[in-house]
This record gives sequence, structure tokens and C-alpha cells, in this order.
Amino acid sequence: RTLKTEGTQLPIQYKFPENFWWGSATSATQIEGAANVGGKGKNIWDYWYEKEPNRFFENVGPETTSDFYHRYKEDIRLMKETGHNTFRFSISWSRLIPGGRGEINQEAVQFYNNVIDELIQNGIEPFVNLFHFDMPLELQYEGGWEKREVTDLYENYAKEAFRLFGDRVKKWFTFNEPVVPVEGGYLYDFHYPNVVDFKRAAQVAYHTMIAHAKAVRSFRQSNTGGKIGIILNLTPSYPRSRHPADLKASHIADLFFNRSFLDPAVLGEYPRDLIEILSEHGILPVTQPGDSELLQAGKIDLLGVNYYQPRRVKAKEHLPNPYGPFMPDWFFDSYEMPGRKMNPYRGWEIYEKGIYDIMMNLKKNYGNIESFISENGMGVQNEERFIRDGEVQDDYRIEFVREHLKWLHKAIADGCNAKGYHLWTFMDNWSWTNAYKNRYGLFRVDLGTLKRTPKKSARWMKEVARNNGF
Ligand code: BG6
Repeated sequence: RTLKTEGTQLPIQYKFPENFWWGSATSATQIEGAANVGGKGKNIWDYWYEKEPNRFFENVGPETTSDFYHRYKEDIRLMKETGHNTFRFSISWSRLIPGGRGEINQEAVQFYNNVIDELIQNGIEPFVNLFHFDMPLELQYEGGWEKREVTDLYENYAKEAFRLFGDRVKKWFTFNEPVVPVEGGYLYDFHYPNVVDFKRAAQVAYHTMIAHAKAVRSFRQSNTGGKIGIILNLTPSYPRSRHPADLKASHIADLFFNRSFLDPAVLGEYPRDLIEILSEHGILPVTQPGDSELLQAGKIDLLGVNYYQPRRVKAKEHLPNPYGPFMPDWFFDSYEMPGRKMNPYRGWEIYEKGIYDIMMNLKKNYGNIESFISENGMGVQNEERFIRDGEVQDDYRIEFVREHLKWLHKAIADGCNAKGYHLWTFMDNWSWTNAYKNRYGLFRVDLGTLKRTPKKSARWMKEVARNNGF
């Protein structure tokens, strides 16, 4: 079972199905840099950073990040060397259509064409996501996802992307973690526009799914072929005990944070219980006639699952202030399970079996939809402390990935429809307000020279991909 060095044959204990997707995931704002280059318009991150740089770790903003815009060739070569057969990136809406509407930016078309072609030439299938938290600034000024019109502008952007790149891109995703801009931007103040208002949050969530469904419809009308899906961060909700009050708390947390997107995406409709809670509190979003049919038609072909950590909850200990603003946490408290395993370098719980539970839930309750792990990874602060002879000795990351893969393997053996595993992420990147605080890459990025250096985990991943298992 010990890890051998590169080139030697590992005993194959966990063999994955043929053509399993091995790769990693990234997003435009987090890797491209070139924020003011190549005709890109501003998005909310460029703006928020200009306005409040002190909200970002060490005041570092998104102007340069990993400079993928200029270094994509080198990076794709490294991906190939690391055994990637698939790679996810996102298109920046404000790069392709600065301002969110109107003219296409031809420099952006050229850039994304180059990336797609380079990937394909290197035997790596591009997985393309259309939206990773990066609303064009002008559209945010107009109200962002609170405004129904923005769903039409998004549909138009998606159509253009299918038209421009659909001849070569066969795996599309409408959104990455759509619950995050809702939580961050409209409930808990960690994304722009820093609103705290459940009713507005519910409208944003709803319009995101309307935009999603419109894009799915357009994709199918485009007849370019391939599959379309969405990427959801599923945080399985575990109750403190089997006591009915704890079970109810965990059921409601699951409704708010998982099923609010999972059900409409896969089943084409919202969970009854969720509608009831919102309607009881007078905070149902505004809908339009025909929306139910639209959501039905927006059912996905393929689900990306991001999994980092579980959510542990218990029944509320104190009743919420009935005059205070409505919040999801009116219904549950979080629960720190004694003895839980923690990532000591990032502070999130590590619970590898969560991957299995998610997959079994998809099998049982969601028609065993085709899926894959679209993000999973381990963030580490001050990772330079693990450098020996120029290489980050990230045995903790190898162990993290290996233990999660074991559970994914078991889920597949037990009949789930999982087709691949993407690590978050390929190279250390800029992460929203956390900037470079937590490093996740297989490759270390020197923030001065931007040089990429493989970590020990890169060598390990290469062997896993080569052997299709470990
Ligand atoms: C994921 C997001 O949820 O978490 C990524 O999709 C993000 O965009 C990642 O970078 C890690 O976040 P953090 O805060 O640990 O850097």
C-alpha cells in the first residue's frame, strides 16, 4: 500500500471504470488575471476590490492571480504531464461580452479558442462553465440576479458561447455553486453586493435557476451536441442525533443549502417543504407564468458535485427573535461533533464518507443522474513550511484525495453513476476574499515570479491517472 515513486508500477487496489475523467477545476477570475487586459470589462470582483481592498486577505485582488491568460500553454502542458484527460475552466462573461450585453469581444474569442484548441491537441477534454461568481459590473448595477431581465442577458451570453465554442466543447455547465453568491451576497456578507435580506436572496436564487433553465433550453436548441449540467456544492446535512428535533433541523438545512438547487436542476421542480416554509413566512420569490414548464425543460444531463465538508446540525437551542430578519438558521444550530476530524491547516472538517453518502442519495432519490466529483481538495495555509528540497511535501493532500477516492470507488461499486474526479485545483490560485490564504494546487505558484513548481501530490496524481486507480 505504500506510495512508490514515479515510474514504478503501483499495486492496483482501487481501479476506476474505463475512461474515468481525471483532472482538475478552476475558474476565470481565480486564474486568468489580465483583469484589465484584452478588452475585458469589469466584474463585481474587480469593482469590490477597488472599493474595499481591506476586505481581501492581505489586500490582494484579482488583477494578476495565476496569469493563466498569458501562461495557458505552459499550464496545459503541465496538465498533460500530470495525466489530465479533462479540465474545467470558466468563461468570464465580462471578458466575452464586456458590460454583459452587446458586442462580443474578439480578443476573448481568440483567447478561449486558443485554450480549447490547446487542450484538445493535448488530449484533454475541455469542461466549460459559464458562471463562477463573476457578474459583470454593469449588470450588478442594474440589480444583478434580482432582475428578471438579467436572466435573458445570461441566456444570450450562453447562446453566444455555444455558437462560438460548441463545435469543440461537449461538456457545459451553467453555474458553479449557485448557492454561494446567494449566501455570500445576500445573506452573510462575504460577497458583493453585501446585502442581508432573505427575500432578496430567495429572488436571486430563483432567478439563477430560471437563467439556468433558459440556457439549457438554448443549448438543446443549438444542436451542437454534448451534455449540459450544473455544478453544485453539496454539503450533506448530518443531524446530531436521531431525535426528531435534530432530524427536522437537518432536513431544513438540507432544503435550504442543497435541495434548493439540486431539486430544480435534476427533477425540474422545487421541494414542496421548501415552498411551504417560504410561503408561511411571506418570502416566496416572484415567479412568472410558464416558469414551471421552463424549469421542467431545464433538467440537466450531467451533475458536477463539489464536496469539501459536511454540515452538522442540531435543533435550535434558543428560539429566534420573531422580530429579527428571517434567516435559514432560524431552524437549526451548527453542531461541532466531538472527535470530528479537522483539516488543521484550513479549519474545515474532513469527512471522506460524505462523498459516498452524496452519491448514494443521487442514486436513490435523483434517478442515478450521471455525475462526477467536480471539486474536492484540501486548502493549506502557509504551505511553504512543507517545502523540502524545493518541493512541497504535501502528503496530507495525497492522503485527503486518496481517502475520498476510496469512498468514491465504493459508491461506484455500489451502483452510483459517477464518471470522474476533478481536484480543486491545478495550481494555487486566488480565492475570492481569501485571496492566496489557502493553497490548493497540485502546483505551487510563486507569487513573485509566478513560476509553477509541482508538489509531491502532482507526481502522485499522475500515477493515479496513469494507472486509472491506485
Ligand atoms: C469552492 C469554490 O467552494 O471553494 C472555489 O468553488 C474556492 O472557487 C474554493 O476557491 C476554496 O475556497 P477557500 O476559501 O478555501 O480558498
